[in-house]
Order: sequence, then C-alpha cells, then structure tokens
Amino acid sequence: MSIKRNDLAGKFIVIEGIDGSGLSTQASRVSEILNGMGHQTYKTKEPSDGPVGGLLRLALTHRIDISPGTFALLFAADRLDHLENEIIPKLSSGINVISDRYCFSNFAYQGTDIDTQWLVEINSHCMIPDITIFLDVDPTVCKRRIEPRMREEYFEKLPRLRMIRESFLKVIRLFNEEQGANIAIVNGNNPIEDVTHDILEKVLKLF
Ligand SMILES: Nc1ncnc2c1ncn2[C@@H]1O[C@H](COP(=O)(O)OP(=O)(O)O)[C@@H](O)[C@H]1O
Ligand SMILES: [Mg+2]
Repeated sequence: MSIKRNDLAGKFIVIEGIDGSGLSTQASRVSEILNGMGHQTYKTKEPSDGPVGGLLRLALTHRIDISPGTFALLFAADRLDHLENEIIPKLSSGINVISDRYCFSNFAYQGTDIDTQWLVEINSHCMIPDITIFLDVDPTVCKRRIEPRMREEYFEKLPRLRMIRESFLKVIRLFNEEQGANIAIVNGNNPIEDVTHDILEKVLKLF
C-alpha cells in the first residue's frame, strides 16, 4: 500500500473491532467529548450513508446476493466515495473526523476469504488515519452484547467472530510494523466509561 498520510487541518480518528465490541457506543461518546472540549468533531461510519454504502447494507442483510470479490470491491468503492464526499471535505475545513470502522475492518473481515494483498491494493487510495483504535473484546462477550439485535448478518456467529479477531490482530501487526500506521489496541471488555477514558488518553495526544 502506498501510504497516504493525512496532512489536512483536522485529525482523522478511526475505531475498529469485531461486531459488538462497542464501536458505535464509543464513537458517539468520544465525538461528544471532543466536541465538548472545543475540538470540533464529525462522527461517521462505514459502510457509509452514500449510494454504495446502501448496496453494502443490502448485501450484509442478505437482501442481495453478491460474491466475496464483488463485496470487497464495493467496500473499496464506498470508502473512496466516503473519503471524497465526507471525510476529506471535513478534514480540509479543520473539522476532526471519527469513523466507526474503516479499511482495517475490511482487511480483517474479507481477509478470511480473499487474498490480503489484493484487498490492500484495491484500497491503495485510502488515507491512513492519524490514529486507529482497535477495541479488543472477547468474542463471547461480543456475542452476548449483540444477541438482542437478532439480525442475521454475515459476521455475527461466534467461530466467525473469533476468526475475525485473529485476522484483525494480524492486520494490525502488519500495518504497524510495515507502515507505522499508529493502530492502538484498547481493552474493550471493561465498563463503557473506562473504555472511553482509555481511548481518549490515546486520542488526545493528537491535539
Ligand atoms: N464496554 C461495554 N460494556 C458493556 N456493554 C457494552 C459496552 N460497550 C457497548 N456495550 C453494549 O453492547 C451493545 C453493542 O454495542 P455497539 O456499540 O452497538 O457495538 P458495535 O457498534 O461494535 O457493534 C450495546 O447494547 C451497547 O450498549
Ligand atoms: Mg455499530
């Protein structure tokens, strides 16, 4: 991956992890706290709310059927659209962006079926965040947290969650060692407030 750093005025923060690790909870809390501190912050997510994100959601809920390769290309297309239309304009105007998932989710989830090198290649346009937080949570805890959702998405079965966690750890090691990607691991098994505290401790170093 030809690494693209963020040289824009705002900071680009990403939260990654397996389903149920608390990504949406923490992205909301951290963005609210940053805003309260006067660091104007825009919260977003992937799949995005753009047109390709809509297609991805249909595929994730099995309302359309696509191959793993097509799925991976749609994620990459959604990411480019998200960067061009949401993330980069905000960062350019000095607003910080926090995204609930980004390319490392894509590498970890699709990397179990698809060659990682190809996944990285089709994402070569993607800007590396200033910091990525990986919320590390025991898959059985995640499973318990997401059970009430009862949505039959692809990725929420326990053996699959375990495999994705391992896949994340591998991708994190690779990107930290080879690209200096600044991916930090935070223990997400702890109570919500403690996790937020640990994330902020790392994120505030950017300011
Ligand atoms: N640290 C935590 N401890 C206990 N429950 C949590 C924690 N973080 C999130 N939850 C709960 O787990 C569920 C899933 O959280 P959510 O943020 O939606 O996960 P994700 O976006 O990673 O799938 C929610 O009901 C949320 O309130
Ligand atoms: Mg979520």
